[in-house]
Amino acid sequence: TYRALIAGTGAYLPELVLDNEALAARHGLDTSDAWIRERTGIRQRHLAAPGELASDMAAAAARAALAQAGLGVEAVDAVIVATATPDSVFPSTAARVQAKLGVTQGFAFDIAAACTGFVYALSVADAMMKAGQCRCALVIGAEVFSRILDWADRGTCVLFGDGAGAVVLCAAEAGSTERGLLSCHLHADGQHGDILQVEGDSGLLRMTGKEVFRHAVSKLASVVDEALQANGLDKSDVKWLVPHQANLRIIEAMGRKLGLPREQVVVTVDRHANTSAASIPLALAEATRDGRIRQGDLVLMEAIGGGLTWGAALARF
Ligand code: ACO
Repeated sequence: TYRALIAGTGAYLPELVLDNEALAARHGLDTSDAWIRERTGIRQRHLAAPGELASDMAAAAARAALAQAGLGVEAVDAVIVATATPDSVFPSTAARVQAKLGVTQGFAFDIAAACTGFVYALSVADAMMKAGQCRCALVIGAEVFSRILDWADRGTCVLFGDGAGAVVLCAAEAGSTERGLLSCHLHADGQHGDILQVEGDSGLLRMTGKEVFRHAVSKLASVVDEALQANGLDKSDVKWLVPHQANLRIIEAMGRKLGLPREQVVVTVDRHANTSAASIPLALAEATRDGRIRQGDLVLMEAIGGGLTWGAALARF
């Protein structure tokens, strides 16, 4: 059997950056930089250009990840895109990415698990690799949440941003290395579907923020324990926490829970806001490129989002 090595990471962020004040001015929102920063840690977000699609951003992130891995598109035999904002119902965004990259072999499909999408996609890619169905997978999170936001609802529209992140997973003989994905742990509880959803009628995001917050810390704490226990690891073994970037207060609570100093928690929410399924691979790309995450480091990823869905993944880089 095989083990999935993370061979490269890549990021793409749209050119337009709006800080909190510029966003409020643009949409006539009754809010303030201080309110947004205190509650969420968000200072600014990137927003897609008109006509810029999830597949455009995903393809750009994928190219960067392949370049870091030193691989060409001919190596890729699977494209999996986690997104809640696909280009269209079909073709899948993953199939569009395949075409944009010039990949003609292998398979491609999307995964819908909202903000937990990247962890779900990693888990599916890992399982398919172990089953021998692919040897080189692009696992991508790509979102244009700006298209599903109600710009009149100050309680949600200030929280999100657009972008894409990607990783290249390569199959290595199990037993040949300590590196790679150790395990993924997925959960869902559809009973809480209504607290964070894209409303059928309007097609816009609706959230009861306090309810989401209430579930977030307890569910994330329990799935993180599950991941560590499954591998016989202790929280002190974790070198980097790379959490889904929804809110600095949730991120800091998880860092404290793991007993990690701030420097070992990768934070991008201040600059990217919440990019849903893209947030973890964007953070991975940043922290591998700036030299924080190094070969051999144990990295813990966790996320919660609409569904509710939540999950965690452990990887040795
Ligand atoms: N500016 C100014 N005031 C605002 C804003 C804003 N942008 N948004 C809401 N308010 C007001 C509300 O109208 C309300 O006023 P009222 O008391 O006069 O009615 C007051 O602030 C409190 O509103 P709440 O929604 O209760 O605010 P809360 O303190 O819960 O903070 C927040 C909202 C930041 C969303 C918080 O609930 C939270 O962090 N939730 C976690 C959910 C989250 O991060 N979701 C992201 C997506 S999900 C995910 O990725 C996991």
